[in-house]
Amino acid sequence: MDHFQLKNGEIYAEDVPLTRIAQEVASPVYIYSRATLERHARVFRDGLSKLDNPHLAFAIKANPNLAVLKIMANEGYGADVVSGGEMERALAAGMPPEDIIFSGVGKTQEEMRQGLRHNIGQFNIESEPEGEELASVAHAMGQQASATLRINPDVDAQTHAKISTGKAENKFGVAIDEAPAIFDRLASLDGMNLRGVAVHIGSQLGKLEPLETAFEKIGALIAQLRGNGHIITHVDLGGGLGVPHKEGEAYPSPMDYGDMIARVTKDWGVRLMFEPGRVIPANAGVLLTRVIRVKPAKINPFVIVDAAMNDLARPSLYDAFHDFAAVRPNGHKMMANIAGPVCETGDTFAMGREIDTVEAGDLAIFRTAGAYGATMASTYNSRPLVPEVMVDGDKYAIVANRIEPETILAAEQVPDWLD
Ligand code: LLP
Repeated sequence: MDHFQLKNGEIYAEDVPLTRIAQEVASPVYIYSRATLERHARVFRDGLSKLDNPHLAFAIKANPNLAVLKIMANEGYGADVVSGGEMERALAAGMPPEDIIFSGVGKTQEEMRQGLRHNIGQFNIESEPEGEELASVAHAMGQQASATLRINPDVDAQTHAKISTGKAENKFGVAIDEAPAIFDRLASLDGMNLRGVAVHIGSQLGKLEPLETAFEKIGALIAQLRGNGHIITHVDLGGGLGVPHKEGEAYPSPMDYGDMIARVTKDWGVRLMFEPGRVIPANAGVLLTRVIRVKPAKINPFVIVDAAMNDLARPSLYDAFHDFAAVRPNGHKMMANIAGPVCETGDTFAMGREIDTVEAGDLAIFRTAGAYGATMASTYNSRPLVPEVMVDGDKYAIVANRIEPETILAAEQVPDWLD
């Protein structure tokens, strides 16, 4: 359920007609619904209600906008961060440092120091050398880094290859058969408080079975680690729940997910941690765009919109489907290709799709754009950086300005030896 619905013949975000935002802010623009974000944050939490005090860390890479993070902080979520920049955002949004988890294969020593200075809650270590560096950095600062070891369980998440993270050939985590020996070595280091394990096998998962397979393997590993004398108190089960992109598509619900986890982990005796990303903001955001013109073509006409692959990269990167809907549908349908103005064939949102009939000047939205949308935008082709708006009932606010090409140009300089 989201709050981007047709009322009086046009699509509203909650109680704000999208035509109003288009007039006042212009397009393209991302629009988020506060009520939808809050609802999804609560539905996810409720799904885990059978668990004892789970730790929820929003994977802020999915949508790091400060206003979105503020909502998540108010909902009691901490953050899963993957860079020093994300860490500063989580803190700026008021998330308590102890609720921040630092993931990622490439943490630099400076980023480790930054996390330790802020006393963040946990580092998820992705390799033995990283663990050794973290221990020595923490020891030098007179601290103990609380950490888990991320395990690569070699499970096929059955998702797009570019967002699968738990196969042996992926760069993430340590191989599960090597984990006990690595755990022994890292746990013995000064500066290291290795208290558990972490796993995240991929994103936009359409089935629970791969997760369940991975978690079963983690359960066996926990028993083995305990058998080796380690004290395991925290297990981070990552994120990954997929979301529907089309009406009627079935995805596992947070309730199904929570039930499966309660069943698999019932004897673990640990604090479970979660890093949900997409499932909360994806359907709480749309990308509003205007049709520039309809270009006739041999097979289907190209609907050229003012949003492009630099604003919403997912179709060009992962062949992702984003539903396209006219803001003021006239009841007719047309077969069309939808493309942006960027000079690449890959700047195509859809080929041969039946869509609402639109013509030059009409407004439309791409749905399911609240996760991995604005955050992956660029200024390719010297286009502006896309702005973001948050709607709350009948009011809205710009929560990220459009950054104009002139601002970006102003950050560049020609060395005098080129004059
Ligand atoms: N935890 C870790 C360690 C992750 O790497 C990720 C996502 C998450 C949690 C959150 O996963 P989620 O619940 O959102 O599936 N740009 C891609 C998605 C990349 C996901 C990367 N890692 C896309 O647009 O589909």
